[in-house]
Amino acid sequence: MEKDTVVNIKIEKAETSKINEVDFSNLSFGSVFTDHMFICDFKNGSWQEPTIIPYQKLSMDPSAKVFHYGQAVFEGMKAYKDDQDEVWLFRPDENFHRINKSSARLAMPEFPEEYFFDGLNQLLKLDKQWIKKGFGNSLYIRPFVIATETGVSASPSTEYKFIIICSPAQAYYAGEVRVKIADHYSRSASGGFGFAKAAGNYAGQFYPTSLANKEGFQQVIWTDSNTHEYLEEAGTMNVFFRIGDKLITCPTSDRILDGVTRKSVIQVAKDLGIQVDIRPIKVVEIIEAAKNNQLKEIFGSGTAAVINPILGFGYKGDKWELPKLEDSYASTIKNTILGIQYNTIEDKYGWRVKV
Ligand code: COI
Repeated sequence: MEKDTVVNIKIEKAETSKINEVDFSNLSFGSVFTDHMFICDFKNGSWQEPTIIPYQKLSMDPSAKVFHYGQAVFEGMKAYKDDQDEVWLFRPDENFHRINKSSARLAMPEFPEEYFFDGLNQLLKLDKQWIKKGFGNSLYIRPFVIATETGVSASPSTEYKFIIICSPAQAYYAGEVRVKIADHYSRSASGGFGFAKAAGNYAGQFYPTSLANKEGFQQVIWTDSNTHEYLEEAGTMNVFFRIGDKLITCPTSDRILDGVTRKSVIQVAKDLGIQVDIRPIKVVEIIEAAKNNQLKEIFGSGTAAVINPILGFGYKGDKWELPKLEDSYASTIKNTILGIQYNTIEDKYGWRVKV
């Protein structure tokens, strides 16, 4: 992508900080936000001057298209602080390209690269004290784009807001995770926009996930919408299956989010000498493997979740528990990725980017 000229970001600082009101040892994911936000409007066919302002409510017309047609996309990123107080991002280029890919699919304008990176850097410098040190602590960054044109005609908006807000975070799943394998509902369909980080992809999961919650599962693993025979992804994570010594994950497609953590897991696992198969994987295959004690691990990967072991799964009323492993692939791979993110090990990939 061609870079625009470096942008001038107008900054209005918050008069006071809310930071002393926050209990950083007891954070519920995504519920507390830092002092500032980045905001940029799109109108008359171009992105306007971006600003950083105190975190505040938006005032919008009730007919804005985002409220009616869900024309909205987002990203999830994290910033980490190392022992020397330096702040790092993890593969931010991937998030930048993905938000524009998501936007394009939802007929929204792409956001300029310089605006994205300059805005993000200045915002993080301003709210740096919100990032706490130590594995598990991070600042969750939520860039998003919403359609703001007024009027309820069902057509793409001509006006948008690109916003970045940040929230201090600890683990996304604090407790144990068990998943239900979908046999009826679907997250996405071929030719749809499952690959995009579109707001509607998440809203559509809430109801089936709430049904799964009632049965004791924290998430659903979605299966292909045609046959429900193939495992695809979980609601907030891509999924990996360890059968014997092999790690298996399904290929990405237009139904599946191309996860940044997913591709990092694949690379790190291969470099650790683990055989990684990227191929369609059938539900019956993991059930067979579970019956033969060959299904050693299932884990999810995602920015919010990092790498999350899945302790059991359910399918059509039956339930399976997985063995508890001392030397799981999940923990070995997670330690390498965390080491890169928190600058405690060498980053031979060039994934760590200083703010
Ligand atoms: C992320 O991992 O950043 C996600 O998008 C998951 C989110 C829905 C909490």
